[in-house]
Amino acid sequence: MNNPFLVGKQVYLRPVEISDAPLIQKWHNDPDIRRSARLGEIPVTYTKEESDINVAKDSQDEIYLLVVQRSTEKPIGFIRLNIIDRTSRNMWLRMIIGDKNAHGKNLAQDALAIVLEWLFSEQNVHRITLETYETNQRAIRFFEKLGFQQEGLIREAIYVDGKYYNIISLGLLKKEFKK
Ligand SMILES: CC(C)(COP(=O)(O)OP(=O)(O)OC[C@H]1O[C@@H](n2cnc3c(N)ncnc32)[C@H](O)[C@@H]1OP(=O)(O)O)[C@@H](O)C(=O)NCCC(=O)NCCS
Repeated sequence: MNNPFLVGKQVYLRPVEISDAPLIQKWHNDPDIRRSARLGEIPVTYTKEESDINVAKDSQDEIYLLVVQRSTEKPIGFIRLNIIDRTSRNMWLRMIIGDKNAHGKNLAQDALAIVLEWLFSEQNVHRITLETYETNQRAIRFFEKLGFQQEGLIREAIYVDGKYYNIISLGLLKKEFKK
C-alpha cells in the first residue's frame, strides 16, 4: 500500500495527489459517469483538475481521498468531503468510482464504510448529506444500504435529453450508520 490513510478489506484510501489529475480528469469527463453524478456538461481540462486538487490540498474544509484497490494497487475512484457547518458537525459527500470495471464488486461499499466509520467514530461528525439524480437508482440503493435516508427532492432541477428530473437529497445521521 502506498501512503494509506484508511484501510478496508478490499480497498484503501490515500490523499489525492497532483499526479492523480489525469486519471480523475478522465473519470470526470466520462459520459456515463458525468450523467449519473451531478458533474454537469462542462468539459474538465487538465489545468482545471490540477488547480482543483491544489485548492482541496490547501483547504481546511475539504477532504479529498483516492480509493485504491488493495489487490491490484489500482486507483478506482474518489471520495470527497466538505464541511458544511463546523458547529453542527455536518458534512457534504461526493463519491465516484470512475473505473467501471470496479463497479458491482462491493469495493465502493468497502470504501465508503471505512470513511463513514472514521468520520463518525474518530471525527465526531454528526450528519452527512449528499444529492443524486432520481434516475440514479443504483446510487440511491447503494447509499441506503449504509443507512442513508431519502430526505427530500428538488423538483425538475436537472435537464437530461429533453426531460427534467428531480434531484434526491439523502442524509445519514451518526446513529443511523449501518456498519
Ligand atoms: C454509486 C457507486 C459509487 C456504487 O458503486 P458500485 O461499485 O456499483 O457499488 P458496490 O458494488 O460497492 O455496492 C453494492 C451495493 O450497491 C447497490 N447497487 C450496486 N449496483 C446496483 C444496481 N445496478 N442496482 C441497484 N443497486 C445497486 C446495492 O445496494 C448493492 O448491494 P447488494 O449487492 O448487496 O445489493 C458507483 O456506481 C459510481 O461511482 N457511480 C457513478 C457516480 C455516482 O453515481 N456517484 C454517486 C452519486 S453522486
